[in-house]
Amino acid sequence: MTGTPERDHAWLQEAAKRNLWLHFTRHSGYAEADIPLIVRGEGQYVFDQHGKRYLDGLSGLFVSQIGHGRTDVAEAGARQGAELAYFPLWSYAHPRAIELAERLAAYAPGDLNRVFFTTSGSEAVESAWKLAKQFFRLTGEPSRYKVLSRYIAYHGTTHGALAITGLPDIKMPFEPLPAGGVRVPNTNFYRAPAFVADDLAAFGVWAADEIERAILREGPESVAAIYLEPVQNSGGCFPPPPGYFQRVREICDKYGVLMVSDEVICAFGRLGYIFGCERYGYTPDIITFAKGVTSGYAPMGGMMVSDRLMEPYLRDEHSFLHGVTFAGHPVSCAVALANLDVFEKEDLLAHVRANEGAFRATLEKLSDLPIVGDVRGDGYFYGIEMVKDKATRETFDDDESERLLRGFLSHALFDAGLVCRADDRGDPVIQLSPPLTCSQEHFDEMEQILRSVLTQAWQRI
Ligand SMILES: Cc1ncc(COP(=O)(O)O)c(C=O)c1O
Repeated sequence: MTGTPERDHAWLQEAAKRNLWLHFTRHSGYAEADIPLIVRGEGQYVFDQHGKRYLDGLSGLFVSQIGHGRTDVAEAGARQGAELAYFPLWSYAHPRAIELAERLAAYAPGDLNRVFFTTSGSEAVESAWKLAKQFFRLTGEPSRYKVLSRYIAYHGTTHGALAITGLPDIKMPFEPLPAGGVRVPNTNFYRAPAFVADDLAAFGVWAADEIERAILREGPESVAAIYLEPVQNSGGCFPPPPGYFQRVREICDKYGVLMVSDEVICAFGRLGYIFGCERYGYTPDIITFAKGVTSGYAPMGGMMVSDRLMEPYLRDEHSFLHGVTFAGHPVSCAVALANLDVFEKEDLLAHVRANEGAFRATLEKLSDLPIVGDVRGDGYFYGIEMVKDKATRETFDDDESERLLRGFLSHALFDAGLVCRADDRGDPVIQLSPPLTCSQEHFDEMEQILRSVLTQAWQRI
């Protein structure tokens, strides 16, 4: 790659189209158009190859909690690479993994004292299922292998994680998946069944009790775990109704089912706490995490596990028969520690808690638009559901949704300078999950871009 910057950009486009395979992307959409190319980040913004600035309203992909361009965090990784670039956590330990495990244990609720590192969220989700299955074999309940999760919830793409994911379209091509995935209702109050549609608390009790009914239907002796996000991402940010998680905890305890809080998105400040479960006052048996633990300055995932679950693995000749080469990579651990230092130095959790009301209020201004049906979320994590008819809550059909989201909104929002996500994994939504450093000026910028683009979208319907 030589020559003028313009020539380099042309080369990058050609090479990208020739050699690079983008994830969950229709490449046909780029046959005539350029692939968006982000070359640099600074604070809450990223920049394309022409120097155009975009507000990163999605933190990349729910990742960049502290924002972009933090040289101190990047340099912590570089220093670690020079000192010890790699050594496995298979039979050995290294200082940064120990320090990070100790620090995460100090943040975690209850007796979640043990950290098993992975390299991604999918691996964390997959590892928790394997841990649960082997745990039950070690403790005399070998028939427990099934996993409950909620409709349209996303828990990752590897075969095990995909079996837990509740999105039929992304599962179908890969069937048969590992057996044992069972679906239960999510907490989408905007689309609640009529008999609980006017009562949030009753809706929460119903949704939680459906979990008990599913356990009884499947046979409690066959159920290993349930996976729940504190706020479900897929479908457009479903917060839990009051009391929901307390009821789920009771049900899990009653039937001996492990409660997994999948916090791949919701941990590390997204909801104003290091772990999202703290916000809603429950203690799970396992927390899965990834993304924000390093704010993306290096890849990392993992799970926090209670002492009770570790106990059988400490006995005799037993060990957890599972591992991945790059888990707990020294560079990622050093970066995670530096990332958490930024959280503390800048008091980011307090910043989110102090500003989340303003974020909500700014987004709620959009409710005067005819296309905006619902604005929902918590912390710095919001979904805006779009509807065809506000009064009846009628949604768009598949064709309209395709034209609206893929044909217009995704490009139009990006062209207008906002990175966010227009998604129809459930009903059509726009999702926002900005860096935790954002404040009113950024909320206003998001609102103004969304107002302008959503107004145009409505005119095109
Ligand atoms: C809740 C949840 N679980 C698991 C995953 C999978 O994580 P990864 O993409 O790092 O494998 C994601 C990814 O977005 C997620 O949101």
